[in-house]
Amino acid sequence: MKAYTLEAANAYIVDNLDRVNPQFKPDIHFSAPIGWINDPNGFVYFRGEYHLFYQYYPYGSFWGPMHWGHAKTKDFVSWEHLPVALAPDKDYDKDGCFSGSALVKDDTLWLMYTGHIVHEDGRVSQVQNIAYSTDGIHFEKIEENPVATGDILPPDLIAADFRDPKLFEKDGHYYAVVAAKHKDERGTVVLLGSDDLRNWHFESIFLKGEAHQGFMWECPDFFEVDGQAYILVSPMRYQETDHDFRNLNSSVLIAGRVDWEKKEFLQESVSELDHGHDFYAPQSLLDDKGQRIVIAWMHNWGRTVVPHELGHGWACNMTLPRILHADGHQLRQEVPEEVLASLPRIQLGDEVASTGYLEMEVKDNLVLRLGDEDDYVEFGYQDGLVFIDRSHQKMDISGEEAWPISRRSVEIEAQQLQVIFDKNSLEIFVNKGQESLTSAIYLQGKKTLQQVK
Ligand code: FRU
Repeated sequence: MKAYTLEAANAYIVDNLDRVNPQFKPDIHFSAPIGWINDPNGFVYFRGEYHLFYQYYPYGSFWGPMHWGHAKTKDFVSWEHLPVALAPDKDYDKDGCFSGSALVKDDTLWLMYTGHIVHEDGRVSQVQNIAYSTDGIHFEKIEENPVATGDILPPDLIAADFRDPKLFEKDGHYYAVVAAKHKDERGTVVLLGSDDLRNWHFESIFLKGEAHQGFMWECPDFFEVDGQAYILVSPMRYQETDHDFRNLNSSVLIAGRVDWEKKEFLQESVSELDHGHDFYAPQSLLDDKGQRIVIAWMHNWGRTVVPHELGHGWACNMTLPRILHADGHQLRQEVPEEVLASLPRIQLGDEVASTGYLEMEVKDNLVLRLGDEDDYVEFGYQDGLVFIDRSHQKMDISGEEAWPISRRSVEIEAQQLQVIFDKNSLEIFVNKGQESLTSAIYLQGKKTLQQVK
């Protein structure tokens, strides 16, 4: 078997960069130099910069044994790629360093991640591990690893699905919300606790979902914005409704309150965080200005990976970061000012070469078309729904859904649309981010923007 090390990964990246075809590689959205990425990990503000780690397989444009890629930015406009931070090089993470998060303590950057282990007999274990760095670049996995295994879980949780710890601090204690699978097939978030980040114990079942809310809740996050508590989860197979949760894997926002005596989250309302085709596994950070910022993977499991099909040597990217504001039980998502300011303004009739920004007041139904005569996407506002429709895009994107997925929409009374274009995407923010729709698009001809209705 191939030995996965940091040295091998970093050398491979440098030696193979010229194999990457940048035709659809985004300009303003984060993507890796080469290879496959999925979830954002370890999203954190450290020593004046935003650090982003990510699920990474550098050796192909498809999912493989997971490493953690790493980059940082001051403004979300330009990113600096850093050496790969974690490779699956220990017994306790030998089949992948799966998703996790970061926390700053004593000017040191701590990571907590899941070690994925496939035993010889095919059984799977997922365990939680810790690594830290004093320079923000090189990480040391601690001797105590694994710091939490399935053995600490109550017996009705399945140890093979115990992953994606998201760290937070409260009243001088450290906690992690972690995804776990309940035997009755309901999504569950467990809470682990620690006084020093090295020794961990089971605290509670923080939240257990209802039967229609999906059988596994990946990548939980827990935070407060303006005093309102939220959980973000990425459920597999949340029951679809007419317009919502229509991706097999959704990103779901649960608002509620925490009973800190019992360490239980009480859910009060549920909504889909983004209504496009490609928004999964969002993760948030808190910065020095007190801003809660979220970023997500701009893709969805089970869907055609276009750059891979085309042999372009890379696959997938992140959404734009969004600053979150409490809006009742919902969250309003705002793209940072610096990001918007860096984008060329687009008008109807313009050709969109790569990135662009369009702002429009909405008075009536409105259908916009981006592309050329026989290869285009449409988006706009019709009969109380803001929508993105990929059905006229020539490059077919199929999924595992048993229902049509070319069109996604959200019910809302729209007054304003903000649209951000990149080489392979459309992101629409309605009424200054009250709702959003994020979709990858792959148009091969000229991308002219027109109003057709
Ligand atoms: C979510 C996910 C996580 C897991 C990771 C593996 O997209 O399935 O649950 O840790 O991806 O790459």
